[in-house]
Amino acid sequence: METEIIYAEEGMANEAISKAVRLLDEGEVVALPTETVYGLGANALDPVAVAKIFAVKERPSFDPLIIHLATREQIHEYCDISPELNEIVQKLIQEFWPGPLTMVLPKKDIIPDIVTSGLATVAVRMSADPIMQEICKAFGKPIAAPSANRFGRISPTSAGAVLKELDGKIPLIVDGGACNAGLESTIIRVEVGELKPQLHLLRAGPVVKEDLQKFGKVIRPKKLTERAKSALLEKMEQEGGRSIEAPGMLDSHYAPSTPLYIFDKPEDFVPEEGKSYALLSYRGQAKDGYMELHDWDVVEELSPGKGKLGEASVRLFHMLRILDESGVDAIIAEQVAETGLGVAINDRLRRASQK
Ligand code: TXA
Ligand code: MG
Repeated sequence: METEIIYAEEGMANEAISKAVRLLDEGEVVALPTETVYGLGANALDPVAVAKIFAVKERPSFDPLIIHLATREQIHEYCDISPELNEIVQKLIQEFWPGPLTMVLPKKDIIPDIVTSGLATVAVRMSADPIMQEICKAFGKPIAAPSANRFGRISPTSAGAVLKELDGKIPLIVDGGACNAGLESTIIRVEVGELKPQLHLLRAGPVVKEDLQKFGKVIRPKKLTERAKSALLEKMEQEGGRSIEAPGMLDSHYAPSTPLYIFDKPEDFVPEEGKSYALLSYRGQAKDGYMELHDWDVVEELSPGKGKLGEASVRLFHMLRILDESGVDAIIAEQVAETGLGVAINDRLRRASQK
């Protein structure tokens, strides 16, 4: 299959939008821009189309998908929200939608089981990307879209990165330019709670804990031990997902092909004789402890100079791809401060790293 890329600039994107909508109508999968990372979209109401997403990504069927809505109001068509739950949901929607917050809520029957891997909940979001919004509006139905990478690999933040992941496997990539946020959306499971709403943080992302705290108690799910994790994985493979409540608890490995390592402190890095190393530095400053630690073959900076977490987020996956292609034996990444967006950045570095 030939993969076509159509450039879609705001205001002159008609061709890309109409072609994407036509393919979605025909039950095809297409790569679409969002403000976080590129998505691999299909008609969420068509189980056969959704099955193609899993096939193209080589994604296990127990890992459920996010559906993307055109309007805030559509949430009631696809989620079964009690009046009590609606109070907090509406507040969150008013504050964060459209934007990079995904909510896990009880689903309505209209959402096929394949989308949610058999769970009683569905993950929903409304993207802030103008092209994605137009496509969602023109299509009219929800679009199921995981990140447009092959399973276990880092998410693409440009049309070129999508092409590298899925060339020849999908008919169309809508090129909406580089993603604004560069990290996948924040995911919360929303519950009413006894005293105040409970927001279970399933994946850290661009909407940070400090933003969410105004709206309820932010709860981080307990970390599973390695043993519990493998037992859960095995069970999921056997039962097709129906046994798990929070797939986000399984911190899957999203990795470049080149091994990546992170350390608690710079001195823990002991280079091996004859191996070449790249450094992914936060801001390229010696005082962070890594720059002068070794005669690096390649150095890239996430936020050159001052060090801004927002800039680092936008560039993270792009720089990881560049370093992956640089031909070194291993990548060493500096961790950033564990505050605000730094939580999501460190989370992605951990997922990309060797245990
Ligand atoms: O920014 C994003 O969220 C991007 C763009 C394309 O929208 N999408 C994305 O999708 O990152 P994906 O499939 O790569 O990650 C979605 C995560 C998965 O880890 C999945 O396990 C979790 O959401 N998830 C989906 N439905 C869930 C549910 N009902 N309960 C708990 N976790 C769920
Ligand atoms: Mg993904």
